[in-house]
Parts: sequence; C-alpha cells; structure tokens
Amino acid sequence: MGQEKVVILGTGGTIAGRADSQSQGVGYRAGQITVQSLLSAVPDLEQHARCPLQALQIAQVDSKDMDWPIWRALLAACLQALASPDTRAVVITHGTDTLEETAWLLHRLLPATKPVVLTCAMRPATALLADGPQNLRDAVTVAARGGRAGVWVVAGGEVHAAQHVQKVQPYRLNALSSPEGGPLALVEEGVVRWLVPAGAAAPSHEGLQQLDALLALPCLPWVEVVFSGALARADAVDALVAAGVRGIVVAGTGNATVHAAMESALLRARALGVRVWLGTRCAQGLPVGPAPLENEVAQPSDLARLPIAKARIALMLELAVQSLS
Ligand code: SIN
Repeated sequence: MGQEKVVILGTGGTIAGRADSQSQGVGYRAGQITVQSLLSAVPDLEQHARCPLQALQIAQVDSKDMDWPIWRALLAACLQALASPDTRAVVITHGTDTLEETAWLLHRLLPATKPVVLTCAMRPATALLADGPQNLRDAVTVAARGGRAGVWVVAGGEVHAAQHVQKVQPYRLNALSSPEGGPLALVEEGVVRWLVPAGAAAPSHEGLQQLDALLALPCLPWVEVVFSGALARADAVDALVAAGVRGIVVAGTGNATVHAAMESALLRARALGVRVWLGTRCAQGLPVGPAPLENEVAQPSDLARLPIAKARIALMLELAVQSLS
C-alpha cells in the first residue's frame, strides 16, 4: 500500500472560470481551467495536506448545466476513491449554483466512510483577488486533516453540512449559508475548529444498497417544482401532469400550505399517481408541520422538509429507487 492520498475531482464552476480581465467578476466563463492548474495555483498545497494529491477532471461545466451523466461519473469516481485503501479523502471543485444539490446527492448515496469535501468560488480563477485558491486550501485541510467522515461543503472559511447548505446570495463571497444550524466548523490559519462534537451532525448512513443499479439508469424520474402564492392557479400542475411528470415539489407558503386553487390540481395529480411533496418557499427554516392536502391523512416524509432544491433531488432519488425494486 502506498502513502494515502487526497483525490481532487474537478467538475468546473467559477472556481475554474476565466474572464477577459482581472477586474471582471461577472460575465466570465465558468469551467475553463483544469483542476490540475487550480492545484498549481496553490504552491504549498501538497505540503499543507501532508500527503500526495491526485487530480482528476470529471467534467468542465457551469454547474447550472449539471446533468445525470456528470453526476454518474462523479459518483463512480467517488465510490472508487472511497473504496481504495490508498485514498484518505476526496475533494470536489464545483460551481456554487447547484453545489447544494450535488452535495445532497453525494450525502444521500455515498457510504460515509471518509471525508468528501466540496468547494467552490464566487470569483473566477483569473480575478485579481480570486477566492478559489483559499477555498481549495481550506477544503484540502478539512479533507486531509479535518478528521470527520461524511460530505462537507467548504467556502469562505466555513464548513457546512451537505444537508443544510444553500446558496443564499448571487454575488458576495459568503454566498453559501446553512440557515438551519449554521456552519459546523471554521477553518482558521490551516486548522479546522469544529463547533459541534463529532457525530452531532455528521451523517452515519451506509450509502445506498442499489447504487450500481441506480447508476445504470439513463436518467432520473422527472420531478418539477411549482410555486404557490397569491393568485396561484391549477393550470401549471395540470399541464405538468398531462406532460407526464412523475413528482411535484410545491414551494408552498409558510408551513407548507398551498393556495386552494392549486390544491385541487395537486389532489387530482395524486389521484393519478404523481408524488406530491409540500415544502416551504420561506428562505430560512423548514416547515414545522406541513399541512396535509385536503382529505390527506399521511404527513409527507421527512425528506420533504428539505429546502426546495434538495427536496426536488430527494424525490427524484426516491422515485428512482422505487423503480428498481
Ligand atoms: C457555476 O455554478 O458553475 C457558476 C457559478 C459559480 O460557480 O459561482
């Protein structure tokens, strides 16, 4: 067995973005610079990790375009790395826009045996004061020396749990936040300071048994989000059902309540076998007790209490897993 290494998987994003000038912070192209070049921009990274680093380019995309083939390749690379006794941890460079969805996917599917740390940047790699190199250094710190298995997100000196992190701001450097519970650790001068005891928030699940079968699927079931609020209508729900949607996540009001006009369409959808989950459009917090739809007895599963973007992925996975059994 060789010396344990940290595997760094590149997927693109602003952290790998290129602009025409150093002062340009928007209007750049995400996913242009190789993950190997990102490592080279932090010259002491390997010394800092105190172990070898191995870079692998999985994709090179703006994460708004994240798709199932890339997720499949990423999952396969993570599984291979986690299974290897030569790998201590995995770091993933990713765009901020769908980072919370990828983090949730990995948290839900991978066995929590080693650290898997996602990181990102809000300024392109070509910016005069790019934030990517520091975030990458911090992510390697958490991966190589943080000492905790599970999926984490590192940005702006903070460590977030995959299940809570959300992008809450489109421009500022501290664009990521965990409205439920806050960051779980801070990275300060190359040292991880955990704010919660080990196990308090760390995932301990075994991963998904049918992962190989899931990875063989050509796509995940179609799930859409509909928004309920003033003047909400039934039409969008009816149109989605007519087009063959398999699941609907409602970004509902307050404690996951729904406009009466839309509720009747959701009941029709349920009667036709479409899964309907109720969540809240509130930016902070999760529904305390999602109100059932009219005549409904069962409460939606706990997964529906995720932030809307993650609930959508969770429902896709739930429907996909059901289709395998
Ligand atoms: C992306 O998500 O790939 C672009 C935006 C970003 O990384 O901040």
